[in-house]
Amino acid sequence: MHSKIQYSQVDASFTDKLTSFFESIHSNGWDKYFHPHPFNKKKAHEICHYNGGDLYFIQTMEKKICGYGMLRGWDEGYKIPSLGIIIHPDYRRKGLGEKFMVFLHERARKKGAKKIKLKVYPQNSRAIHLYRKLNYSFLGKEKGQLLAFVEL
Ligand SMILES: CC(C)(COP(=O)(O)OP(=O)(O)OC[C@H]1O[C@@H](n2cnc3c(N)ncnc32)[C@H](O)[C@@H]1OP(=O)(O)O)[C@@H](O)C(=O)NCCC(=O)NCCS
Repeated sequence: MHSKIQYSQVDASFTDKLTSFFESIHSNGWDKYFHPHPFNKKKAHEICHYNGGDLYFIQTMEKKICGYGMLRGWDEGYKIPSLGIIIHPDYRRKGLGEKFMVFLHERARKKGAKKIKLKVYPQNSRAIHLYRKLNYSFLGKEKGQLLAFVEL
């Protein structure tokens, strides 16, 4: 099944698909533990037409979006990018989150990053489990979320 996974940096051609993915995230409450930005049409349009240094990707299988991931911070002048990821509930627990994380690590490394940072709610045990598996170290808290880093 995994042979058909594809990764694409988001561009204008994905506007409609990303809009419906974002709208379903928000309307179903899947953004409870993951709200790096609003999940709405306006934000999907903005990301699909964005031209800066940060990176936004979708993971697809048979042209359907199964995940959305991003590496942000370079635009604001940080050397350590922040990673964010969400997998559509229909596609969870199949290893796709882990594969997407590995892909994001590789893209950050290619851009010269030595570390990646992320924030996760302490209640989000699935995500924490995945990050530990990928060697993230948990070092402190920020606004109620755990702060974690991985060396690339
Ligand atoms: C956290 C999240 C990204 C994990 O995504 P995922 O695709 O379910 O993660 P994976 O499938 O890679 O790993 C999760 C589980 O699937 C298992 N798995 C991996 N490959 C598998 C396979 N081929 N078949 C069955 N299970 C598999 C893993 O072992 C793991 O199970 P375990 O926790 O019992 O060990 C996802 O739950 C999500 O999007 N959550 C909502 C948004 C969110 O919280 N994002 C993070 C904010 S910080």
